[in-house]
Amino acid sequence: MNRIHKYIVFLLAFLLIANGVFYTAFAEEDDYEEKGHHQKRERKHSERNVKGNLIVVNNLTYKENCGACHFAYQPELLPSGSWDKILNNTEDHFGEAVEIDPGSKKIIAEYLKANAAEYSSAKLSAKIMKCIGKQIPQRITEIRYIRKNHHEISQDVIKRKAIGSLSNCSACHTTAEKGIYDDDNVIIPK
Ligand code: HEC
Ligand code: HEC
Repeated sequence: MNRIHKYIVFLLAFLLIANGVFYTAFAEEDDYEEKGHHQKRERKHSERNVKGNLIVVNNLTYKENCGACHFAYQPELLPSGSWDKILNNTEDHFGEAVEIDPGSKKIIAEYLKANAAEYSSAKLSAKIMKCIGKQIPQRITEIRYIRKNHHEISQDVIKRKAIGSLSNCSACHTTAEKGIYDDDNVIIPK
């Protein structure tokens, strides 16, 4: 009788402990899973960013010469054929004359062509390439995909002093220089 009693107590104790152990084990697993998901989500986000961002303009010759009158557009915004066209016609550059010495022009041409949209892994460049097909646009702002994203902005807004032109990407895209054109980072100046 005494032995059976002891046995029952032992069994109960065992069940309680086992239950406790299981309980904590599952709780930890839940915790772990939650962390795992979170990390995965974060990783996905940063991967998207890495692929989504354009490479920050890092060529000084380009930045100084081609960023003198307007935002220095990332080379990944146009295919190399477009950059060729632009560089071959600097004397009539959208109505203005762009003066660059031949040495700098060569450096700029190499930089733009090596980093042009067709060689980029950025999603935006892929969309641009897909959209233009065989066309060789002279402007980023004439690409249908870019136009489609801005067609809701009225001319009145674009003519605002702080903007002036749709070509002035960095007026509204606060992270344009970082190569981020996400609509989350747009602030249209008043
Ligand atoms: C003397 C001033 C000046 C310089 C220097 C200059 N640009 Fe421009 N660029 C302009 C003007 C003006 C426009 C037209 C902007 C507009 O329509 O609002 C333009 C437009 C552009 C556009 C089209 C933007 C769009 O609408 O998509 C590209 C691309 C461009 N320039 C590239 C270059 C490159 C590459 C260089 C260097 C070789 C350069 N620019 C140097 C004045 C300049
Ligand atoms: C007048 C302000 C303004 C200017 C200038 C402007 N954008 Fe935008 N852009 C916007 C707004 C607003 C949106 C968001 C549109 C929407 O979500 O419907 C946008 C969207 C975009 C998108 C799509 C973003 C996404 O998350 O899908 C790209 C790419 C883009 N712009 C690139 C450019 C480039 C390149 C230039 C310069 C050649 C430029 N934009 C000039 C206001 C501007």
